[in-house]
Amino acid sequence: MTVLSVPGSSVTVRVPAKVNAQLAVGAARPDGFHDLANVFLAVSLYDEITVTPAESLRITCSGPDADQVPLDRTNLAARAAEALAARYGIAPDVHIHIAKDIPVAGGMAGGSADGAGALLACDALWSAGASSPASREELLAICAELGSDVPFSLLGGAALGTGRGELLTPLEVGGVFHWVFAVADGGLSTPAVYGEFDRLTAGTDVPPPAAAPALLDALRSGDPTALAGALANDLQPAALSLRPALADTLATGTSAGALAALVSGSGPTTAFLVKDEEAAATVAAALRASGTCRTARTATSPARGAVVTGRTP
Ligand code: C5P
Repeated sequence: MTVLSVPGSSVTVRVPAKVNAQLAVGAARPDGFHDLANVFLAVSLYDEITVTPAESLRITCSGPDADQVPLDRTNLAARAAEALAARYGIAPDVHIHIAKDIPVAGGMAGGSADGAGALLACDALWSAGASSPASREELLAICAELGSDVPFSLLGGAALGTGRGELLTPLEVGGVFHWVFAVADGGLSTPAVYGEFDRLTAGTDVPPPAAAPALLDALRSGDPTALAGALANDLQPAALSLRPALADTLATGTSAGALAALVSGSGPTTAFLVKDEEAAATVAAALRASGTCRTARTATSPARGAVVTGRTP
């Protein structure tokens, strides 16, 4: 196969963060993963990934949390470039720059976003001259190999993730939901939170995970009050057990008028569903003033999945 890429050309992709409207977790499987019913919503906080042909694979990162991002081959963006290069039968010789705005290790799929973004950007570079460009299904399959949340970062919008979260069914959303995210100091390790879930549920009967019909109805209706009553995260007790101070952050947002408060995914970012943009500003200001988090961000959902936003010839 011949693949042509124009030296010096670059592609930029924008990728959203996610929040889990429901994260139903089943018992640990023999492979160590957990079966999930994971209702993903993409939110309007974005990383931007730019890839440029280079002598060899390298990663740089900018943004307030750039120093916490690994720049070696453990970065999902590097692994995405390697996996796609193998598919095209070429070397993964690109400079990947990550302009990071999604909280790092925060339970908002920031690392997964960078994997999906680098994959789409490299595909835009390499597919142009390829005799058989990768299909959307192939890209989603590579995403699933990279991590459980990576396929959703590519897809965006809203989706139910089953299996370990990688088998996606798109969901209908009937309106715009407003959120505030309280960013904690320091991250939480996803495997550690799942490990704590196992410890807390040991000896109990963990039911098979299922999406709640009331939650799916609330998403379809676009009604924030209905959605607030249906939000659920089975990892929340584990995240609170590892980081008890998050309870103060949750209480702060609730007293400031949030319709609902929950830990985002495996945490430690906490998510607050609010009525509208004005309520978002009020809750974000209260959280920032409280000293119970590092900062607070406002965002809306659903947001579009990974998309090419720029190309230089
Ligand atoms: O798939 P990903 O690499 O993002 O998963 C990170 C870790 O989170 C896994 O190694 C596992 O400990 C945990 N995990 C899990 N069940 C899932 C997804 C993730 O136990 N469905």
